[in-house]
Amino acid sequence: MAILVTGGAGYIGSHTCVALLEAGYRVIIADNLCRGSAKAIKRIECITGKKPAFYCLDVTDAAAVDGLFAANKIDSVLHFAGFKAVGESVAKPLLYYYNNVVGTMVLAGACQKYGVQHFVYSSSATVYGPNKVPFREDMLLLPAANPYGETKAISERILTDAAKANKGWSVVLLRYFNPLGAHESGLLGEDPAGVPSNLMPYITQVAAGKRERLYIFGGDYNTPDGTGVRDYIHVMDLAAGHVRALEKTKSSPGVHIYNLGSGVGYSVLELVRTFEQVTGIAIPYEITGRRPGDIDICYADPGKAYRELGWKAGKTLAEMCRDAWRWQQANPEGYATAE
Ligand SMILES: NC(=O)c1ccc[n+]([C@@H]2O[C@H](COP(=O)([O-])OP(=O)(O)OC[C@H]3O[C@@H](n4cnc5c(N)ncnc54)[C@H](O)[C@@H]3O)[C@@H](O)[C@H]2O)c1
Repeated sequence: MAILVTGGAGYIGSHTCVALLEAGYRVIIADNLCRGSAKAIKRIECITGKKPAFYCLDVTDAAAVDGLFAANKIDSVLHFAGFKAVGESVAKPLLYYYNNVVGTMVLAGACQKYGVQHFVYSSSATVYGPNKVPFREDMLLLPAANPYGETKAISERILTDAAKANKGWSVVLLRYFNPLGAHESGLLGEDPAGVPSNLMPYITQVAAGKRERLYIFGGDYNTPDGTGVRDYIHVMDLAAGHVRALEKTKSSPGVHIYNLGSGVGYSVLELVRTFEQVTGIAIPYEITGRRPGDIDICYADPGKAYRELGWKAGKTLAEMCRDAWRWQQANPEGYATAE
């Protein structure tokens, strides 16, 4: 029996494949490589010594997904495949709703048809909207200010309803906070195409001299230094959280929601200062206007994941910076020029 990892050639999916293979699971990756890289899959094998099976397919393609389920004994699905850039989702809402929502529906449909009862979904803290911190799983979700957040909230509802209708199903909805860092080997990391929409790749590209300065969106938030506060979590901690979530699906039917965050908020400037201390490189920055839809403070109450999954984030902000920088130095052009 195998674990199907959609989006396994992407940032979080590839790191999670390492954690799954190291925990002894057999892994099948399904990814259309629109934002991920086949080189990430080779490197998963380099790190673990185990080769995941790979299907290059689009998860919105129902016939292709059906073929995959028909040809393999799949035990569980970890669904990472999707688009994640908030700004792009505002500019291209239909692309986001189609890719993120239809992909979830096609996979849930295949699970129903082939009797696959375990499903772990990559959701986001974005679904909390402007709630009061710390965010708890039982909070009423407020509408996110962007289509990306809506695709996550809708996918959560679809999976919740599907789990209610299918006896024996266990669905775990994981709400990630802000993933950073890279595998400590420097072989896997975040590889954005074009201008990074996430903070850390932007910082590392400034440090590498590829970009002149970091633009910080908003210096007048209601926070100690005026820049936004976020809950950063090392991608390998996040990967470990998925292994625990998968174990949960085996023992507990129903729907389970967990925050995967550290529970600590750091401002953008604190992150920049930590990066500078760890690497010894100054990061020139400029504070510009707020980005529409951004909130001032976002951090998790991670207590439920600790109580029910025995999981908590262990790696520090300094480790996130060190590992992200190691990845950037070893792969100046990401996977584009990598072996
Ligand atoms: N990185 C973050 O900051 C963050 C935060 C919260 C939630 N998430 C969610 O986690 C998941 C993974 O994020 P990531 O950072 O690894 O992103 P990523 O872009 O690095 O990886 C996504 C992968 O999915 C693949 N993909 C996209 N659409 C596909 C489709 N229709 N069919 C097959 N493959 C497809 C891409 O090729 C890529 O390899 C996403 O669902 C994202 O919304 C990410």
